[in-house]
Amino acid sequence: MISTLLSRRGGADGAPAPRLVYGADYNPEQWPRSVWEEDVRLMREAGVNLVSLAIFSWARIQPAEDVWDFTWLDDIMDLLHAGGIGVDLATATASPPPWLTAAHPEILPVTARGETLWPGARQHWRPTSPVFREHALRLVRQMATRYAGHPALVAWHVNNELGCHNVHDYSDDAARAFRDWLRNRYSTLDALNDAWGTAFWSQRYSDWEQILPPRLAASHPNPTQQLDFKRFSSDALKDHLRAERAILREITPGVPVTTNFMVMGGTKGMNYPDWAEEIDFVSNDHYVHPGPQDRDELSFSANLTSGISGGRPWFLMEHSTSAVNWQPVNLAKRPGDLVRDALLHVAHGADAVCFFQWRQSAAGAEKYHSAMVPHAGPDSELFRTVTGLGATLKALSPVAGSEREPAPVGILYDWDSWWASEQDSHPTTLLDYRQEALDWYSALLALGIRADLVTTRGDLHRHQVLIAPVLHVVPADLAKTLTRFVEQGGHLVTTYFSGIVDENDHVWLGGYPGALRDLLGIRIEEFGPLPAGESVELDDATTGSLWTDRVAVTAPGTEVLARYRTGVHAGRPAVTRRPAGRGSAAYVSTRLGVEGVTSLLPRLLAPAGVAGELPEDARGRVETAVRRDAAHRYLFLVNRGEQAVPVRGLSGDVLVGVADADGVLTLGPRGVAVLRQPLA
Ligand code: GAL
Repeated sequence: MISTLLSRRGGADGAPAPRLVYGADYNPEQWPRSVWEEDVRLMREAGVNLVSLAIFSWARIQPAEDVWDFTWLDDIMDLLHAGGIGVDLATATASPPPWLTAAHPEILPVTARGETLWPGARQHWRPTSPVFREHALRLVRQMATRYAGHPALVAWHVNNELGCHNVHDYSDDAARAFRDWLRNRYSTLDALNDAWGTAFWSQRYSDWEQILPPRLAASHPNPTQQLDFKRFSSDALKDHLRAERAILREITPGVPVTTNFMVMGGTKGMNYPDWAEEIDFVSNDHYVHPGPQDRDELSFSANLTSGISGGRPWFLMEHSTSAVNWQPVNLAKRPGDLVRDALLHVAHGADAVCFFQWRQSAAGAEKYHSAMVPHAGPDSELFRTVTGLGATLKALSPVAGSEREPAPVGILYDWDSWWASEQDSHPTTLLDYRQEALDWYSALLALGIRADLVTTRGDLHRHQVLIAPVLHVVPADLAKTLTRFVEQGGHLVTTYFSGIVDENDHVWLGGYPGALRDLLGIRIEEFGPLPAGESVELDDATTGSLWTDRVAVTAPGTEVLARYRTGVHAGRPAVTRRPAGRGSAAYVSTRLGVEGVTSLLPRLLAPAGVAGELPEDARGRVETAVRRDAAHRYLFLVNRGEQAVPVRGLSGDVLVGVADADGVLTLGPRGVAVLRQPLA
């Protein structure tokens, strides 16, 4: 789908389809007309074949309620087409213009504390405002009607990063819509009262109108109300996405529709596995957050995006050529980072490599954010690197359209568990769901073992080992799926605070880990969270932090892989494994961190016979990812470190990289190589 986007309009530059998309957000309205021609010329020079246009153009397109100005947009659409550059056209609804907010301040979002988020930045709209919806959809209809049939149009870009700043709105509109959503979910007030456990603290509702979003309260708001509000907030934005999409499909049925997700860092408000079903292809934005695991996090996010996309290729809509403008200290990328980061996304299934943005702004809040054409202009190291990347992506055309080859290990990433496990009034406030999952991923990278991030909507049976860190919410049917996975020969690994509650955030009684207790063959009567900075030693020389459990083994045959050596549970099991059916179920009762997990994993993976694929001396130093089409396998090798790494003994055509006469591929610091291997 993505790799053929450009050929849909006839491949004006004559390149063979399919191919990888290369481009950026393009904001020509920030520049005089004279710059546009240079832009198109430089885009061609860099190998750019697609730009996203009109993302923040509402005020320019509709300067007043009944005034429309498309002339400038017609002009740039035509110019881009003449230059052989396709357009991912935004519906332009991301940032409402001042005339709209002045006339209708009731579209502005409200925080849990009751503060209004005023205009002056962007995305200041309530997902549930009927007034905003009406104006936004009017604009979408105008855009779709105007550009239906325009030869530059290759895809629709709904809004922009839906929920980036406005996912949780506590306004009266939100309250009304929340009640409707709850009526739909529960049908009766009795069912809602049961699900929310309102017998607690005198919270029983006797009328739907009494229900509010979890606004700032005297103490912890009802946990199920909080969890449902998270679900509702994601659904409210999804509803907006569907409303825009309906108009686009009505007027331009042949043009695919996407919206850019933010699978990165701590962005957790939008349930993307659920949204993915609403669009024609998945798009993602990713920015590096500098830190010790920053490129592991990039790989993790790209991998998770692939999981959300069902292993099919996806579209990297934004990342940065160098520094961003919104971190406390905005670090420039080092030599090699730009190309390595881009190709790491491709390794994990991206068929498009796009940046924010094409030309660095001279004014506005993002003037210090890097771009493909920096303030220094095209005579710059950065633009030369950008052009080099364009050539590399062209060399990688054969990869376009290929899907991910299932890895032996799956890591289950679950939005409900993410949302619920980090709520307030819990045994600890220190738990970080994403970090725990990332640590397991980093440990697998350190061992040179490929893993796929998967969601509960994916086919879990594709993996020999399934790691489910902090799988906190386990509805009865998920418990059954995991039991079947183990019975049929799969090896499950889960951790502390897993299996604890059902979909209503009600505890599974009888001892922890509730829904997974029998499968794991253990029973825990009380949690033992650790204060910040405290740790316990295990007898396998690893160290636990954050959490411990008093684990009792209940099922015969359950092995104890490690015991606590220090702390209140000294001598008791810390890591267990129960052989069950044709597989096994293991439990890790503490937070081991990357180092501890790396040391434990070989023992957890042994029953499945899973080990690293690269020669021993390259394992852990080089990340591998594999894509596959009907005839070939594409092996991506990414140097994770600062030292050159020679990789021996691999065969295939070298699409990126250089092999010496003996076939040794040497990856320079942050270097990438790609091999094409025929499928037997
Ligand atoms: C994204 C956004 C872009 C730009 C970028 C800067 O959140 O979609 O418009 O602001 O961040 O990093």
